Amino acid sequence: MSEHLKREAAAMALSQIRPGLRLGLGTGSTARHFVDLLGEKVAQGFDCICVPTSEVTAAQARGLNIPLSDLDTLDRLDITVDGADEIDRELNLIKGGGGALLREKIVAAASDSMIVIADGSKLVETLGRFPLPIEVNRFGLGATRRAVAAVLAAHKAEGELRLRSTPAGQDFVTDGGHLILDAFFGRISQPEALSRDLLDIAGVVQHGLFLKMCKTAYVATADGVITLPAAKN
Ligand code: A5P
Repeated sequence: MSEHLKREAAAMALSQIRPGLRLGLGTGSTARHFVDLLGEKVAQGFDCICVPTSEVTAAQARGLNIPLSDLDTLDRLDITVDGADEIDRELNLIKGGGGALLREKIVAAASDSMIVIADGSKLVETLGRFPLPIEVNRFGLGATRRAVAAVLAAHKAEGELRLRSTPAGQDFVTDGGHLILDAFFGRISQPEALSRDLLDIAGVVQHGLFLKMCKTAYVATADGVITLPAAKN
């Protein structure tokens, strides 16, 4: 059911993509559908050039013969299409559940517009139910972790701070060679201030709050795909 909804949201995003655009390709199970569908179009001769947000997405795109480039070669992208772990009413996001948040944010920031695709389970009133991924440098992990914990306490996080591990019990390592701390907030009442406070910590590379970056979200529900923000009458 959920896979079907993710694919519907992906198809809606694809319907907005004109030939000749420079695209950012997101990461995760929803973005994977978008890349699959784009691959079908490319096989029929559709023209685009894409920058992937992870090694996993790059491998998928290469397998589908989607033309790839990078942000050294291209100065800007037109549109990035990516998934999200949470979306609030103002289209602020939590991302990074799949660990690709750093490249996702670099690519989204280099794009004129960001489209998010998701199923309805990702919509929330207030961000924070999903643990906030914080990408940190391995060097000085203890010091960084204590500094992040102090920020969490100041922002009244309800839960713990956990170093992400793989199912095999090893540290989860990002494509950039960093580690991830997952911060259980419950509710993030001041996302802008939290973003600044986290980025002020020397060992923090980036975090999964994507604020004011998403222009449009296609959210698939059992009743159809909702476009956010809703069109004004
Ligand atoms: C990857 O790091 C994430 O930001 C994903 O975009 C996000 O976790 C959504 O993934 P799903 O589409 O698999 O839910």
